[in-house]
Amino acid sequence: MGVTAKIAPSMLSSDFSNLASEAERMLHCGADWLHMDIMHAIVFIFTSSSYRHFVPNLTIGAPVIESLRKHTKAYLDCHLMVTNPLDYVEPMGKAGASGFTFHVEVSKENWQELVQKIKSKGMSPGVALKPGTPIEEVYPLVEAENPVEMVLVMTVEPGFGGQKFMPDMMDKVRTLRKKYPSLDIEVDGGLGPSTIAMAASAGANCIVAGSSVFGAPEPAHVISLLRNSVEEAQKNS
Ligand code: DX5
Ligand code: ZN
Repeated sequence: MGVTAKIAPSMLSSDFSNLASEAERMLHCGADWLHMDIMHAIVFIFTSSSYRHFVPNLTIGAPVIESLRKHTKAYLDCHLMVTNPLDYVEPMGKAGASGFTFHVEVSKENWQELVQKIKSKGMSPGVALKPGTPIEEVYPLVEAENPVEMVLVMTVEPGFGGQKFMPDMMDKVRTLRKKYPSLDIEVDGGLGPSTIAMAASAGANCIVAGSSVFGAPEPAHVISLLRNSVEEAQKNS
């Protein structure tokens, strides 16, 4: 398998008041990427005078990415949980994001334009899917002439750190890995020492982990355990 293990601590579980030093601490502990969860809770739909949530939470946006970028050269793996990702491509590019992963559920009409714009701003495009979304929905984006470079399989409902891993999602990872041997496949939600074996043997190579890393007395041990599991599974596949 040509894909390498990437361990991406989710900064959602960090101490946001010390973001730069938390980022440095994670890199020192062996992190490859820093996973940044960009959530925007509400978009009003004026026609129906109602609103819908993409996630029931609010986190950070481009200004925070821009501040962090001044302190680190690390790959900032940005996961956008918003209903209108296109509006954020330019600001995130300017702010210094490295990867821009949007959700397929809100991009059915404009994913081609999104991918093209993300690349034109020098970022790497990824597509994410919620637990209820069938895996087939991302195939056209991976097989396009101008394809996404990563698929993020959510293993919890997006919104918060610290939720329980959903093992049922591993069928999606297995299917993707079989179909696309050299694709970066990321899993996000509930990953840690007790769940990594399932994700690694299914074929995931990019591992997001928030509470299991930040909550550990020695994050470096958890990061190396996650990496070893991915590498062992790749050897045995
Ligand atoms: C959830 C986020 C995740 C979250 C993962 O919506 O996308 O990145 O921070 O946190 P843990 O590893 O604690 O489940
Ligand atoms: Zn995430």
